[in-house]
Amino acid sequence: MESVRIQRLRNAMAKIGLEALLITNVYNRRYMTGFTGTAGYALITQEKAVLYTDFRYRTQAPLQAKYYEVIEHLPNLTDSIKMTLNELQLARLGFEQDHLRFGTYQEYAKKLAGIELVPTSNLVETLRLEKDDSELQVLREAAELADRTFSHILKVLRPGLAEKDIALEIEIFLRRNGADSSSFDTIVASGERSALPHGVAGERKLGSNEFVKLDFGAYYKGYCSDITRTVLLGKPSDKHRQIYDIVLEAQLNVLEHLKPGMIGREADALARGVIAKYGYGDHFGHGTGHGLGLEIHEAPRLSVNSDTVLKPGMVVTVEPGIYLPGFGGVRIEDDVVITHNGIEIITKASKDFIVLN
Ligand code: GLY
Ligand code: MN
Ligand code: MN
Repeated sequence: MESVRIQRLRNAMAKIGLEALLITNVYNRRYMTGFTGTAGYALITQEKAVLYTDFRYRTQAPLQAKYYEVIEHLPNLTDSIKMTLNELQLARLGFEQDHLRFGTYQEYAKKLAGIELVPTSNLVETLRLEKDDSELQVLREAAELADRTFSHILKVLRPGLAEKDIALEIEIFLRRNGADSSSFDTIVASGERSALPHGVAGERKLGSNEFVKLDFGAYYKGYCSDITRTVLLGKPSDKHRQIYDIVLEAQLNVLEHLKPGMIGREADALARGVIAKYGYGDHFGHGTGHGLGLEIHEAPRLSVNSDTVLKPGMVVTVEPGIYLPGFGGVRIEDDVVITHNGIEIITKASKDFIVLN
């Protein structure tokens, strides 16, 4: 798998006339090499694929990065890079301009004097957009684990428990069932706090006759899932039902029409149009969805300013919401794969209006 990725990256580099690329972003490095350690830098040229790391990964790195020459770098990484480039007689080095600190760039510029540093953007990220079969399988498993976690937590929710207790229970369940961690800080937002789109679990105790918004996911074999469900504890008011139904209608409208060839902005409009039609447009202030993969938020975006054309193999969330300060909020979020003729929904937890007594 990594060997195919190396070839695809080489093709992309050839197209822009780049002889060598230094990969410093940790997700891009994992994608390209398979290496999961915390410290490492990949250098790809048309002839060589090198992974520089250090003593700590002497055994692990060669096992994981099968298609790479693993080099324990000198005290200064730049000295090792210089040796490789000199050996290959290369005098230009591409770097990931979105993932290199300014201070580090300045240090490279000084220590690699004589080598032209060429800024690049999104070379590996573009390859990551369309997931291969092995990635899709892991993403399905991560989504399935999120579904099972939701079923489990429904049995736990009751008034009097703190949001943090619920978050802890979610995270324990995720880890007991195969996740390495949660894919982001677990959101449990109850009552008025459910109007906070990113209300990370706090001290508040769940009450009665109020929403509980749960947004969580598994970080599993390097990939993320991301699900939101909103349930009601106690007795719902008409307003609770109305808000829930509108968000669900918006979410289902996206799922029904989403397909390859659509651009991110059009997908976003499918949700935004429904919510605006009911007069709640001002209360849906975030994008409809985002790409999901090695990172919890990655390209493509489903938002008002996204021009990205959706293609088979892309994985995105669909997560409209309505947030009413002082009352509460609802979000419903699924993870979906864009297929050749539509989508595959990989989170399958019920979206019925769940009322727990
Ligand atoms: N939990 C963050 C999100 O849904 O994007
Ligand atoms: Mn989420
Ligand atoms: Mn999300």
